[in-house]
Amino acid sequence: MSRLLRILLVESSDDDAQMVRRELERTGSRVVSARVETANGLKEALARESWDIVLSDSMPPKVAGSEVLAIVQSVRPELPVILIAPKAGQEAAIELMRSGARDLIFKDDLARLGPAVERELRNVRQHLEYKKLEEQYRQAQKMEALGQLAGGVAHDFNNLLTIINGFSDLLLAKMSSGDSSRSFLDRIRQAGDRCSALTRQLLIFSRKQTPSFRVLDLNSLVGEAEKMLGRVLGENIKFVADLGPRLRSIKGDPGQLEQVLFNLVVNARDAMPRGGQVTVRTRNMTFAEGYSLPIADMPYGNYVMLEVTDVGEGISKENSKHLFEPFYTTKEAGKGTGLGLVTVFGIVKQSSGHIAIDSKQGKGTSVRIYIPEIAQRAEHQSETAPNGAFADLRGNEAVLIVEDEEGVRSLLSKILVHNGYTVLEAGTGGEALRLAGNFGSAIHLMITDIMMPEISGPELAKLFREAHPETKVLFISGYSTPPNLEEYGLDGKVAFLAKPLSPLKLTTEIRKLLDSGAEANQLASANISV
Ligand SMILES: Nc1ncnc2c1ncn2[C@@H]1O[C@H](COP(=O)(O)OP(=O)(O)OP(=O)(O)O)[C@@H](O)[C@H]1O
Ligand SMILES: [Mg+2]
Repeated sequence: MSRLLRILLVESSDDDAQMVRRELERTGSRVVSARVETANGLKEALARESWDIVLSDSMPPKVAGSEVLAIVQSVRPELPVILIAPKAGQEAAIELMRSGARDLIFKDDLARLGPAVERELRNVRQHLEYKKLEEQYRQAQKMEALGQLAGGVAHDFNNLLTIINGFSDLLLAKMSSGDSSRSFLDRIRQAGDRCSALTRQLLIFSRKQTPSFRVLDLNSLVGEAEKMLGRVLGENIKFVADLGPRLRSIKGDPGQLEQVLFNLVVNARDAMPRGGQVTVRTRNMTFAEGYSLPIADMPYGNYVMLEVTDVGEGISKENSKHLFEPFYTTKEAGKGTGLGLVTVFGIVKQSSGHIAIDSKQGKGTSVRIYIPEIAQRAEHQSETAPNGAFADLRGNEAVLIVEDEEGVRSLLSKILVHNGYTVLEAGTGGEALRLAGNFGSAIHLMITDIMMPEISGPELAKLFREAHPETKVLFISGYSTPPNLEEYGLDGKVAFLAKPLSPLKLTTEIRKLLDSGAEANQLASANISV
């Protein structure tokens, strides 16, 4: 197939121009050309269209050769200029070569023209590729430095926040509801929450947080996040979930993918200050070899697409260049930090996925994420995958808290909700049994106080286990001695923690207890297969 060549000729003779065209066509190019004679004509042509090369008479009658070079260099410095000289103009042409022309071809020996043009185009391509690589490398280095900084800050921040939030919670729990200082403390706590969310984004961005991958069904993830998203959106924005049938499984960290959804939906909300609709769509997508891909460097294959679409203000061309830069925001101070899309990008990459943003100003924006299919059925959320040694302290299991003191109960609940767990709360043993009976799916852990009116903690655990034998139990007590478990016939799937509880101690113990089950199950199945 012949190649399209766009040439701009600075030439006053139409015949000579034709000759040049014919020569290039002879060497196999399809030529699109324009002929200009003056400095203004040249400037206009350069501004109007993009060209592959300029071929200039070395002594054009209406503009100096040196001016031709100067104009091209100032307007399109990467565009090569080749001089075409009559035999008589040899000396002047050689002078021009010193001013930056790339080659000199004589009019009576045009055979060299084709190869010379070919070589120049190749050089331009190589130069552009080199520049692109250089830019990518620079960007990667910048991101790495920022990531290190962010990760370090986030790590220290998290430790401090555990203290600030944990002790604010403890103070709130001790304070009577009528205490006049309560509202101050509430404000501290709310700020603490925002800091935690921000720190989490920083950790993801810095990739310091080890994702705990599971085989997932995106439809259930969206379904579970729907309530939370509805709260975020407010009343004047409609939320529509358009979930594709028989969605393939993918591999990802459910907490992180929820964060993706959250960041995208918040952006969609912010783009529609006067209200509108956010649609979250999931679809199976297959890109077979030879068909066009939605994103250039994405491999062919089977994917699951997650798309978040709004009908908001859209993104301008200028802004669209910066979307994935950390701290790039068009929102007023205090409203946005510019970490949302960077975080999304980081998570998508960690999930071996690809992302594209499609936006029309004034019409709306669609963000599409493609995550490769995995040939495994999605685990039920409750089946905890074995965690790596550095897995964090978060989780998404269902936890039932039984505690008669309302303050302590809400403290525990807040700590667990912050860490991603689904929490059920009961004030008495009786209530706990009723709640669990109505819950409908597995409760992975029951945290229960030991000394309670009506039914004591160990008694409750025994009763509870009859209906829910798989549920682990964590006893908490104001006394530092654990209960006598044998007395109640409880097996090893229990642990004990003394109050006061620090959030860190609590979440560490919970993870240990929940994850020990995964190991135990693995051991059990290994034994069976032997
Ligand atoms: N759906 C959208 N519609 C219009 N503009 C968007 C949309 N999503 C992102 N943007 C633009 O991209 C910018 C960067 O988005 P990003 O989520 O990274 O940061 P942010 O929303 O400004 O702050 P943060 O998410 O950290 O609170 C936004 O400030 C906005 O200009
Ligand atoms: Mg955002």
